[in-house]
Amino acid sequence: MDLLEVMRARRSIRMFAKKVPSKKIIQECLEAATWAPNPSNQQPWEFVVLKGKSLATLSEVMCEVFPQKMKELDPYKGIPASCAERKDETFKHIFSAARDAGLDAQDLFQKNCSFYDAPLAVLFITHRIEHNLYRFATVAALENFLLAAHVRGLGTCWLSSVAACQEEVKSVLGIAEEKELLDGVALGYPLKGSPLNAYPRTRIPVEDVTTWLGF
Ligand SMILES: Cc1cc2nc3c(=O)[nH]c(=O)nc-3n(C[C@H](O)[C@H](O)[C@H](O)COP(=O)(O)O)c2cc1C
Repeated sequence: MDLLEVMRARRSIRMFAKKVPSKKIIQECLEAATWAPNPSNQQPWEFVVLKGKSLATLSEVMCEVFPQKMKELDPYKGIPASCAERKDETFKHIFSAARDAGLDAQDLFQKNCSFYDAPLAVLFITHRIEHNLYRFATVAALENFLLAAHVRGLGTCWLSSVAACQEEVKSVLGIAEEKELLDGVALGYPLKGSPLNAYPRTRIPVEDVTTWLGF
């Protein structure tokens, strides 16, 4: 399959089947993550894969802490109007799809805190340093992971709620203070036929976001 087709077809999955992906398939996706470009091949990332009781404990912490974090946060603060508009549009689609799936806004918020009830979660961790290079590299690794998972028939959802609960998650999992929890990903097989995995998505035409110089 053409890589562009893979990139277009990958989408965030928010309803998962019960089937648990094998350790082998997760390892393949994590290996894909490690082939990401990174500063002078320092490979500054680490991964934590959670299932079962470990994942349940993490979700419990997130469900306790994240609502409070949200109260302290203005999600529109500093966002340009055009981005805010697209954010609203996306939420409209997600909430409408959730309603079609029998979920209200509160259910959805709760699921967001508990990795959308996925059978697995993967955390992407790097070293806390002054500049952003390790963050960039670990984000590149994360994207490789999402694409590798997609071509293997897995579904993923990147969750910023994990980084928002940084200190609490690190504490419950025993992750060292000097590490930075970049973010988390819900992982499993997509629940077939769920409206939440099928609402329409678009992208701004590339011409609208590109400046060609010297052409
Ligand atoms: C940094 C980042 C944080 C995200 N956090 C969340 C989240 O907390 N909850 C969620 O449902 N989706 C989250 N997403 C997924 C986005 O909503 C999704 O990527 C976006 O709507 C585009 O849709 P697509 O992934 O299906 O192409 C996040 C994505 C990124 C890159």
